[in-house]
Amino acid sequence: MNAKSVVRSYWDGRSQTYSIDIYKSRSEAEHLWKTLLKNTIRTNRNLRILDVGTGTGFLALLLAEMGHNVTGIDISRRMLEKSRQNADAMRLSIEFMHGDAEKLPFEDGTFDIVVNRNILWTLPDPLAAACEWSRVVKSGGKLVLIDGTWNDSATKMHLRRLLGRLVAFVTERQNPMAFTSYYSKIKDQLPFFSGSNPDDVANLFSEVGLTNVSVNRLERLREFENKNRSISYNIANNPSLFMALGEKW
Ligand SMILES: C[S@@+](CC[C@H](N)C(=O)[O-])C[C@H]1O[C@@H](n2cnc3c(N)ncnc32)[C@H](O)[C@@H]1O
Repeated sequence: MNAKSVVRSYWDGRSQTYSIDIYKSRSEAEHLWKTLLKNTIRTNRNLRILDVGTGTGFLALLLAEMGHNVTGIDISRRMLEKSRQNADAMRLSIEFMHGDAEKLPFEDGTFDIVVNRNILWTLPDPLAAACEWSRVVKSGGKLVLIDGTWNDSATKMHLRRLLGRLVAFVTERQNPMAFTSYYSKIKDQLPFFSGSNPDDVANLFSEVGLTNVSVNRLERLREFENKNRSISYNIANNPSLFMALGEKW
């Protein structure tokens, strides 16, 4: 079973509902995320930024609104259709490309910053991916990873996910078996399927030669998400969100 084609098919289907789970308070979410990104990037210059596994363009849209020159890449063409629609609706110019996070179609040192959010868990070879992300960052540039524990294997979280899917079926008409029917076939091939933690990511960043590696827990964002996401999301997820930062020498 080729894990990447299963991942691609799942996200092609999921593109229809991925953005339904929107925040109740979009303006507050936008403010929190932009503050976090601004404090991380720490420059007033306009930068060339790559968002890997951009999905419907969550980080790409925020960064483009902040004035950066953004490229988003994703393995799912349907997710990319949504990200293009979102950028058009917001009148933002972003280059969205189809491609693989573990084999990026860019020259070495193309970007000032490479970002990604919530993609590590669904990659068969996270080390190869981190090598690629680091390769395409310029010397002196940064790699930023935002993630959490999405498929915690504890029994309590397993039950919560089942209940969350049931609620999503009733309230949002989402197929409760869609996720399992795809990912149960390949989860053993995904090293971080049950979630990564700050130490895992710090080790990964060090392994690919990044320096000044730091990891911060995103407590304010986590509290915000708990208050402002749908009931089904809150039942199914209780991630400890964190952001890892590394610099390329
Ligand atoms: C959980 S979504 C996150 C989307 C977006 N980053 C966000 O924060 O909303 C995971 C995304 O990673 C993409 N993806 C999974 N494996 C990939 C790969 N090997 N290369 C590129 N994108 C990939 C999926 O298609 C999906 O859009």
